[in-house]
Amino acid sequence: DSKNTDISLGYQILVNKFNILPEDYNPGNIKKFSSTYAFGNVSAEEECYNAFIKMADDARKENITLVLTSGYRTREDQTNIYESMKNSKGETYADEFAARPGSSEHETGLALDIMTFNAVTETFHETETYKWLHKHAREYGFIERYPENKEYLTGYERESWHFRYVGVDLANKVEEEGIAYEEYYAFYIDK
Ligand code: DAL
Ligand code: ZN
Repeated sequence: DSKNTDISLGYQILVNKFNILPEDYNPGNIKKFSSTYAFGNVSAEEECYNAFIKMADDARKENITLVLTSGYRTREDQTNIYESMKNSKGETYADEFAARPGSSEHETGLALDIMTFNAVTETFHETETYKWLHKHAREYGFIERYPENKEYLTGYERESWHFRYVGVDLANKVEEEGIAYEEYYAFYIDK
């Protein structure tokens, strides 16, 4: 059962398998990261973009290198990702790892996949880079969107590299409670 998500919430927006973006969703001003910050062509919504650059520059002072592998995706990008996974691995598999078009946070420009050199997604949570993010990302307005043991709420296995910009105040609140954004949203935002 899915419905249109409340896009008036701005940086608090919830996007998941049940809360869908309208086809004509406008992500605002999208800015492209330079190769200092990203592998290949990665962009994000302006406020999220600025927050990431500040975070990556601060991390670097502590010898932590943050490198983006994915950010803003158009609905067409997301359709291609989902369809190619579905065609190669089947629908059940695809739904576990990729969002259907309209249901990916990447389409808002507020989600970033953050990695580092010589890391792979499966073991990213064991790296010093992840540990730094786990502690500090909230200070820049980012939350861990698919935490461990919350699959029944988020719809996805842990993705330790996927961070979502929600703004500093909200990020601190969500992470202090140690809950998934779906839970926070249900308790405090969805009235
Ligand atoms: N992998 C995340 C869930 C996405 O496709 O948005
Ligand atoms: Zn992601």
